Amino acid sequence: MTRAAAPPLLSIRDLRVELGGSPILNGVSADLARGRVTALIGLNGSGKTTLLRALVREYPYRGTVRFFCGHDHSRPTPEHIGYVPQRLTLDARLPLTVKDLMALALARRPLFLGVSKATAARIAGLLERVGMSGHLDRPVEGLSGGQLQRVLLALALDPQPELLLLDEPAAGIDFKDQQKFYDLIADLNRRSGVTVLLVSHELTMVSRHADHVLCLRDGKIQCEGPPREVLTPDNLAQTFGTEMHFHHHH
Ligand SMILES: Nc1ncnc2c1ncn2[C@@H]1O[C@H](COP(=O)(O)OP(=O)(O)O)[C@@H](O)[C@H]1O
Ligand SMILES: [Mg+2]
Repeated sequence: MTRAAAPPLLSIRDLRVELGGSPILNGVSADLARGRVTALIGLNGSGKTTLLRALVREYPYRGTVRFFCGHDHSRPTPEHIGYVPQRLTLDARLPLTVKDLMALALARRPLFLGVSKATAARIAGLLERVGMSGHLDRPVEGLSGGQLQRVLLALALDPQPELLLLDEPAAGIDFKDQQKFYDLIADLNRRSGVTVLLVSHELTMVSRHADHVLCLRDGKIQCEGPPREVLTPDNLAQTFGTEMHFHHHH
């Protein structure tokens, strides 16, 4: 399926980031097409997470990042970006229910005050969007990896983002749940038109769900284009620095 070119929602020009005195991003330029899914691939340590964290202004950068979405993004933390960070070894033994965890994140008030009706309704609506209705009162520690990622995705959907940044959202999840998770992202993208930037090593999923692929190497975009053109053995060898084979799905 080829979709017509879309205007950029986000335009990145000559982005440079230094961390601990070392250059990590060395002049990244890319456009994220509005309403499309863009995948970001590259070796571990190539700077994928750094790029996402620069976009949400967690890291200082040089260069320009411009949003074309009709909102004022000159303030430090753009509200219209939903960000699911790369899975930290979150201590999932929290003695909290899904509802409590989400209430803490959304309402920013102590739990002993109780969850307001409005917040409870907001939480129920968000869980429904990620296929997790009915898990409201489940303890977080009992969730599978895939379920926990859905809860984190639900949090990123509030308030209605125009851009979703997903950093290896399905890493460490078993294959079947991984597929379902990518289907969910595709479904959210189709239904709400949210623009997605997805870091992923799952090239089969990238091929199936991304409209555009960015390959990061040595802190620069080394190649980009539709999956069919980009996920070739030559490009993959250059991006990953090793021989890699990949079969396209029709
Ligand atoms: N806070 C930091 N201080 C110094 N170096 C960092 C920091 N965070 C990441 N790095 C380095 O930046 C490089 C890119 O990291 P990262 O963006 O996490 O890569 P990726 O997500 O592609 O695996 C790595 O070499 C990493 O060690
Ligand atoms: Mg990373």
